[in-house]
Amino acid sequence: MSESGERSHGYTPRDYDEDSAADEAYQTCVSYAVEHTPIRREDTVVDVGTGTGIVAFELAPNCERVLGRDVNDEWLRYARQKATERGVENVSFGHGSFREPNVDEAVDVVVASYALYMAYDEGGEEELRAAIEGISSLNPRHLVVADKMFFGPAEPRGDYERLPQMGTVANLLADAGFTLTDVEIVSGSVGVLVASRTTG
Ligand SMILES: C[S@@+](CC[C@H](N)C(=O)[O-])C[C@H]1O[C@@H](n2cnc3c(N)ncnc32)[C@H](O)[C@@H]1O
Repeated sequence: MSESGERSHGYTPRDYDEDSAADEAYQTCVSYAVEHTPIRREDTVVDVGTGTGIVAFELAPNCERVLGRDVNDEWLRYARQKATERGVENVSFGHGSFREPNVDEAVDVVVASYALYMAYDEGGEEELRAAIEGISSLNPRHLVVADKMFFGPAEPRGDYERLPQMGTVANLLADAGFTLTDVEIVSGSVGVLVASRTTG
């Protein structure tokens, strides 16, 4: 994706919020991730690939602050507007990518929801590896990937997006120094991986 990330082709952040609200697998996946992300009240959480901030807003009541990062500045503006409208003060949104999240402070937990699959779709396993390494460079205690990935045999998806196998994501997390502590399969192509830092 380009550095500005703006490849929406008329699809607005509001469209995304409406579609997400109607997507049962997405709702189940996000609910599980929010419920099972090991967060303490004093934690700083990064929501990478935050989009319109759906997950950031869900996590905000459970921690000190959430930093949403994304490459799409239009969606970041929309997320900021939502924060203002809702009066949520412990969430902020800024430009940052998987490879370079643009976070200077200590981070306790990183969450990536329906986001990392885009790295795989763009550049296969090598791009996903670079994305996970970039996120891991924040040195979080836990990394939660709530995403589209295959939990069984890859299904043909035509010209649609390419998705990684769950084992590929798990191996890349292991290479980055994380151990899976929880796996929730929502469907054959959606689920949640909770990983905890094992090294460093
Ligand atoms: C399908 S949306 C998911 C948004 C949100 N996490 C959610 O659960 O609703 C994927 C988001 O990932 C962002 N994204 C794609 N490539 C990215 C990258 N390299 N670095 C950071 N964000 C990226 C897109 O701009 C988009 O906002």
